[in-house]
Amino acid sequence: MHSQPVVTPEAPSGTLRAIIDPIVAQLDTPIIGEALAAALDSNAPALARIEGFFDALPALGHEPKALADFFNGWKATHLKMLAIYGLTCRLHRLAAEEKGGPRDALFVAAHCTALTSHEDLGLDYDAHTHEAMYLDCVAAFLEDDTWRLDRHALPEAVAFKTWVYRNMVVEPIPVGLLSNLFSEIYNHAEYSLAEAAVSRLLDRMEITDEARRQQALGYIQAHLEDDTELDHFRVMLTAIDRYGAATGERPTVEQAKALFTGYLVRLGDVFGALHRRMEAR
Ligand SMILES: [Fe+2]
Ligand SMILES: [Fe+2]
Repeated sequence: MHSQPVVTPEAPSGTLRAIIDPIVAQLDTPIIGEALAAALDSNAPALARIEGFFDALPALGHEPKALADFFNGWKATHLKMLAIYGLTCRLHRLAAEEKGGPRDALFVAAHCTALTSHEDLGLDYDAHTHEAMYLDCVAAFLEDDTWRLDRHALPEAVAFKTWVYRNMVVEPIPVGLLSNLFSEIYNHAEYSLAEAAVSRLLDRMEITDEARRQQALGYIQAHLEDDTELDHFRVMLTAIDRYGAATGERPTVEQAKALFTGYLVRLGDVFGALHRRMEAR
């Protein structure tokens, strides 16, 4: 008797899950895989808010004030190089206090964590930092830098940035490792949505000059080329594994799910609030 192949319903294309689910399905780390699937399953409203925002971006970004809100708020949810540095320092410090196998494992965990900042730093890219690429992207849309002023800062986005930073430099190290891990797989998916949304925004603004379009999309595409963020996700799996080998502390499904949920709920709030603010401009 032939058994029927199990068919997993596919998430609609153009959604975060359409990108994340196939990666989760292939993971050979059961605890992280189960926690990711559970967090995605139970946070459909947050995912919908994020997707709804990027869907609406071409229509929302109709005037400079709204675009300034977007670039200020979006930046607060990315560019976490300082937090990565902080987490790396903590792992180095711990490694230096240990001996033998645990010391080696912690140094590997620190190295893997630091790897997730190499492209941001412009290492091997002639010091072309992602911060500079972000500013370049904004300059393709806005003539001055008033978007950086606090009047465009969104409380939800500031709270999110603070939460991530504290997770990585203050909270127990496993919380920091899980935060960085989740941000990588999430960002991998979000940049795909953002690439489509920003392309449509350029169309809508009738920006046809190829150099300017490239300037606008370069920051996003740098994260999608060569699966940069996916590689970061994979090295964070190794970081968590090595930290667990050294200390015996391995995340449970419940702990990881709670952290991933916290990340998604906060981010859903950021994009919901950004949507409302830009709509009101
Ligand atoms: Fe980056
Ligand atoms: Fe990354």
